Amino acid sequence: MILANIDDYRELARRRLPHFLFEYIDGGAFSETTLRSNANDLQKILLRQRVLRDVSEVSTATTLFGQKLAMPIGLAPVGIAGLNARRGEVQAAQAAEAAGVPFCLSTVSACSIDEVRAGVNNPVWFQLYMIRDRGFLREMLARAKAAGTNTLLFTVDMPVPATRYRDMRSGLSYGTMFQRKLTRSLQVLRRPQWAWDVGICGRPHSLGNIAPVLGENAGIDEFWAWLGKNFDPTVTWADIDRIRTEWDGHFIIKGILDPDDAKQAANIGANGIIVSNHGGRQLDGASSSIRALPKIADAVGDDVTLLMDSGIRSGLDVVRALALGAKAVMIGRPWVYALAARQKTGASEILQLFANEMRVAMALSGCTKISDINRDMIESID
Ligand code: FNR
Repeated sequence: MILANIDDYRELARRRLPHFLFEYIDGGAFSETTLRSNANDLQKILLRQRVLRDVSEVSTATTLFGQKLAMPIGLAPVGIAGLNARRGEVQAAQAAEAAGVPFCLSTVSACSIDEVRAGVNNPVWFQLYMIRDRGFLREMLARAKAAGTNTLLFTVDMPVPATRYRDMRSGLSYGTMFQRKLTRSLQVLRRPQWAWDVGICGRPHSLGNIAPVLGENAGIDEFWAWLGKNFDPTVTWADIDRIRTEWDGHFIIKGILDPDDAKQAANIGANGIIVSNHGGRQLDGASSSIRALPKIADAVGDDVTLLMDSGIRSGLDVVRALALGAKAVMIGRPWVYALAARQKTGASEILQLFANEMRVAMALSGCTKISDINRDMIESID
């Protein structure tokens, strides 16, 4: 199969993965309106075509939170992404490092922060949810710190998990039928690596960062049940403020869609904000991230570093987001599809693809470096 763009990697992932796992990655909340508008609204943004400027040298290099990046893209935290290839998060982190971009490990990863750290040369970013057990939350922070992490993403758009019909239909709802579904899929596919990786073979280390609270013999069902019980809906700005003061690295709030919330994030001293609706997986009917981005950029100005995610599917989309005020974007599904399709090679290929697409989009809109990209490049946004 020829893999020309992200749609092809998605299709290959669909063919390779057990049905419930593909649906988990691909799906969104309720009727998936926001999921669709994330990508559709990006496509509606028209850029000005500019000509006759020397574009023989185009550089996508940039600096983010003091870190030099080959391009303004990061791999977003994706829960249990490690199931998509053996020790999947390690492979993806290696691909990100080779491409010169950051990888962010989810709280609920399949591989632990220590395992991922051992597989790369430089520390990775870490994402945290507010966990009811604050003692364990602090333990996780300490582990991330010990692994050299200096950029923490605190995700705030999931005080409760949203309803995802596709996960209900596939059998993957919190605490239900997971193992039975998985086992059946494995029988169909005869791909034992998934059984090995998710702990069906009794490998507690496969349960990632939360393995310490699950006990020796836990499997994926205990993992899923723990998730259902431990997201903390009582979380408020005061909690976030406390965590921020305890964390001495870069502190990024992920999941902001409203300008007033963005101002509050700036007020408590966050270094960055990720304008995000969790890839359309939480409040269905919420604005697409790209529509929210310019309003938030206007609200907070240069007070915080703005990142954006949800719906980015090409290097052209990256340029659109940068033109509307983001310093960088994160990609979620694209790297996971690529990992599922062709393991680490796929993740590397997709980053290369995005870099090439960015360079072409920049050249055809008359930009040769990231600092050339600004709102003047926008023709219209509807
Ligand atoms: C996510 N996302 C996410 N975010 C987070 O902070 N912690 C997490 O554990 C997860 N888990 C997760 C699982 C899956 C399957 C997906 C698709 C997404 C959200 C993720 O970080 C990011 O915000 C979105 O994926 C961005 O949208 P796109 O690029 O997938 O459209």
